[in-house]
Amino acid sequence: MEASTSTYKFKLSLSFFFLFLFILSANVSPAIGRKNRIEPLANRNRTSPSGSRPQTSSSGLRTYIVHLHRNSATAAADDDDDRVVEWYKSFLPSETVAANEEGKKPTTSSPRMIHAYKKVATGFAARLTEAELEQIRKRDEFVHAYPDRLLPLLTTHTPGFLGLHRGAAGFWNDSNYGRGVIVGVLDTGILPTHPSFGDGGMPAPPAKWNGVCEFNASSCNNKLIGARNFVQGQAAMRETSSGAVGGLALEAPYDDEGHGTHTASTAAGAFVANANVAGQANGTASGMAPLAHLAIYKVCGEAGCADSDILAGIDAAVGDGVDVLSLSLGGGSAAFYSDATAVGTFGAIENGIFVSCSAGNDGPSYGTLSNEAPWILTVGASTTDRSIRSTVQLGSGAEFVGESLVQPSNYSSAELPLVYPGFVGTSDAALCLNGSLDGIDVKGMIVLCDDGEISRVAKGSFVKSAGGAGMIVASTESSGYILRDDVHVLPTSHVSYSDGLAIKTYVVSAASPTASISFGGTVFGAASTTPAPMVAGFSSRGPNQADPNILKPDIVGPGVNILAAWPSQVEATNVASSTFNVISGTSMSAPHLSGVAALLRSSHPDWSPAAIKSAMMTTAYAYANDGKPIPDESMSPADYFATGSGHVNVSGADNPGLVYDIAPDDYVAYLCGIPYNSTMVSAIVRRRVTCSDVSSIDGTNLNYPSFMVFLTAVNSYTAVVSRTVTNVGAADSKYTVQVVAPLGAASVTVKPTTLSFTEVNEKAQYTVTFVGNVTGTSTSYSEGYLTWISADGSIVVNSPIMIAVG
Ligand SMILES: *[C@@H]1O[C@H](CO)[C@@H](O)[C@H](O)[C@H]1NC(C)=O
Ligand SMILES: *[C@@H]1O[C@H](CO)[C@@H](O)[C@H](O)[C@H]1NC(C)=O
Ligand SMILES: *[C@@H]1O[C@H](CO)[C@@H](O)[C@H](O)[C@H]1NC(C)=O
Ligand SMILES: *[C@@H]1O[C@H](CO)[C@@H](O)[C@H](O)[C@H]1NC(C)=O
Ligand SMILES: *[C@@H]1O[C@H](CO)[C@@H](O)[C@H](O)[C@H]1NC(C)=O
Ligand SMILES: *[C@@H]1O[C@H](CO)[C@@H](O)[C@H](O)[C@H]1NC(C)=O
Ligand SMILES: *[C@@H]1O[C@H](CO)[C@@H](O)[C@H](O)[C@H]1NC(C)=O
Ligand SMILES: *[C@@H]1O[C@H](CO)[C@@H](O)[C@H](O)[C@H]1NC(C)=O
Ligand SMILES: *[C@@H]1O[C@H](CO)[C@@H](O)[C@H](O)[C@H]1NC(C)=O
Repeated sequence: MEASTSTYKFKLSLSFFFLFLFILSANVSPAIGRKNRIEPLANRNRTSPSGSRPQTSSSGLRTYIVHLHRNSATAAADDDDDRVVEWYKSFLPSETVAANEEGKKPTTSSPRMIHAYKKVATGFAARLTEAELEQIRKRDEFVHAYPDRLLPLLTTHTPGFLGLHRGAAGFWNDSNYGRGVIVGVLDTGILPTHPSFGDGGMPAPPAKWNGVCEFNASSCNNKLIGARNFVQGQAAMRETSSGAVGGLALEAPYDDEGHGTHTASTAAGAFVANANVAGQANGTASGMAPLAHLAIYKVCGEAGCADSDILAGIDAAVGDGVDVLSLSLGGGSAAFYSDATAVGTFGAIENGIFVSCSAGNDGPSYGTLSNEAPWILTVGASTTDRSIRSTVQLGSGAEFVGESLVQPSNYSSAELPLVYPGFVGTSDAALCLNGSLDGIDVKGMIVLCDDGEISRVAKGSFVKSAGGAGMIVASTESSGYILRDDVHVLPTSHVSYSDGLAIKTYVVSAASPTASISFGGTVFGAASTTPAPMVAGFSSRGPNQADPNILKPDIVGPGVNILAAWPSQVEATNVASSTFNVISGTSMSAPHLSGVAALLRSSHPDWSPAAIKSAMMTTAYAYANDGKPIPDESMSPADYFATGSGHVNVSGADNPGLVYDIAPDDYVAYLCGIPYNSTMVSAIVRRRVTCSDVSSIDGTNLNYPSFMVFLTAVNSYTAVVSRTVTNVGAADSKYTVQVVAPLGAASVTVKPTTLSFTEVNEKAQYTVTFVGNVTGTSTSYSEGYLTWISADGSIVVNSPIMIAVG
């Protein structure tokens, strides 16, 4: 395809490609969130966005995740899986014992044990009555138990302009396209026959690979090296609440939703030429790490993802030998010891595995994050610089540039009467809901509809069946300037919230309002409608609820209008050719960063997960392609609770100069300092910890690549924190600090102000003293940054500073 298109277009389409794949449409995506009123599975009685604890059944059975200590007798069983499982079973009632108080027979013949954990947790998931759990609590080896919950997947939309160029010099070549690295994806499974998972040019998996392919043998290959299904907890929950009898037999890990196929291809899909949706965003699709291997762990089904299954998937992935874990799922904030993802991923990072997770789709409200543990890379979603233009021209001559994925080439762009049903009908009519346009004359007209409640594509179908000739969809206020590329059924333009207001003003004031829609195709860079990147309205925001002392999210990456692989048998709303799909969400941004982590793992095999994460964060950039600070969905500068350290800079992350490393053991002092008690810390780290014997630290003092500091009367408005950097750049190097203190809120003093190194991997420590401005005390947050700059200015190691005084 390089022969006929310019290199520029080719490069952009590569990176956009994957981003695009996920964008499909709200009503096929399992994403749900407070701000995302489109809940595709609502009619299946889906669970709440923050993750729901299922009801106890009539039989009194409920699924619990139980954490245990090994005692001296069981310690010997460490390496013997069968003996460990036997030990776990000793906690469970015999299968024939009646499960309810009335002494009736159990209403189900299914096994009580759902998962036996071996690597990242000592314990199991099982269906138990309250009374049985009480008995387990009395055993010496008991540590902690919590009820299973169902978490949603986190799809919404994406982009991609990460500067990875095929066949050229640069980071893709330097990192060998992720060759030999194994990316484990916990999601809805995969369509193994999709061209994105072909293995042309792929090496055999590394010798350490120890995984399993639950498809028939011919479906796995050197790209898709393993695939397993763990969706049991969900089935058990459903069974438990319905009381139905049924086995828990598992099928092969086919993707019935599309989500898992999309995320896997985004992280590590192969090059596929001529990928497009409805002819738009055409180009060569590829994952971020096209030569990395994929290992698939199906932990999510149509109802969501059970904590017990997620833990089982991570447990298996660690045993199988993956290098990177990608999780595009998450519930609301939870204490780390009662959050299976936090517990399981701690075991993963102890095994040197990098973990990238979605930040959540509950923005733009504050305090809406998922996956807040400091050992996880928490990834928010932003746009790319690709637009698929659909322009509205009003009778007044005013023009508004919107987007639509469907761009019929034979459309005549006639000027037609324009109507906003919200002015003549009910509030449902403003949203163009089913039936709401009855009795409103829209025949042959262009109809303005407000976004929300149902998918934009569905609104178009109702407008079309009411006789409408075209549609303009106005964004919600919380989506602002974020425009979505949907597969519309009639000529459509999705315009911003403010453009929607301007169009309504025109409809009110004009004697006979008219409009036309014209299509401008796929454009990139400065030609795109809005600056890029721009943080998506749906991208969840800090502050971190589980531990306010750690700034989250960590980073943003492409998550709006992302094109990636799609199983064609999954209904992709009106997509003519559904081999690829464009969808959006932090589900799309997390696998971009997983793929980037695979590239970094390949180019720096000796880096720890914390070092890779630090490299990504300290090199992230803060400015959009118009030279101004990265905006949020309302076009105001985005704050750190939206962007974290900024937008990933893939080539910058390859050469970060200094990294903030964290050893797994450092988290013990951190967890004791949250403060969690010894029991809870033990549940996470899988060994007996006595916090009183540990010199605990609070999150501000964890060696994190960003700063979140509270200055209050309790600490006399003063905090002294220390950090240790490790030189991963040139042996002889010198860095000088530059600090921009949060304006008017605090002073920031760094000691020393220069750091000199003579060796690679040499460490240096510095302290930062924060003194709050007491006269200005308010509980609001203020932002600054601290940057180490190399002597020649070529390396910039940046850390955001967020301060709360008061
Ligand atoms: C949801 O579940 C409730 C109770 O289980 C049931 O009454 C209702 O009909 C279900 N709704 C749908 C849409 O299935
Ligand atoms: C890619 O890297 C190899 C060394 O790993 C180098 O020999 C080759 O020239 C590079 N390719 C390009 C296009 O820069
Ligand atoms: C293996 O699975 C693929 C689809 O995943 C199917 O096309 C093929 O027929 C299967 N082969 C056998 C031997 O069952
Ligand atoms: C996509 O691009 C390729 C290469 O430029 C071209 O051959 C193909 O026709 C294009 N497909 C569409 C649907 O535009
Ligand atoms: C445009 O082309 C499509 C498909 O080729 C066809 O279905 C449609 O009727 C055409 N519309 C007009 C206005 O010609
Ligand atoms: C719209 O409403 C009608 C009448 O209630 C119903 O028959 C139809 O199935 C609905 N369509 C959709 C797509 O929900
Ligand atoms: C990304 O990092 C590279 C290498 O440090 C730098 O040249 C480039 O300007 C950065 N990109 C952005 C958008 O900041
Ligand atoms: C830790 O806290 C939990 C409840 O939050 C409690 O059940 C447990 O006994 C505590 N453990 C210790 C050692 O205090
Ligand atoms: C402290 O805050 C007050 C009130 O906001 C402001 O006027 C003053 O300039 C601040 N002082 C410093 C040193 O930042």
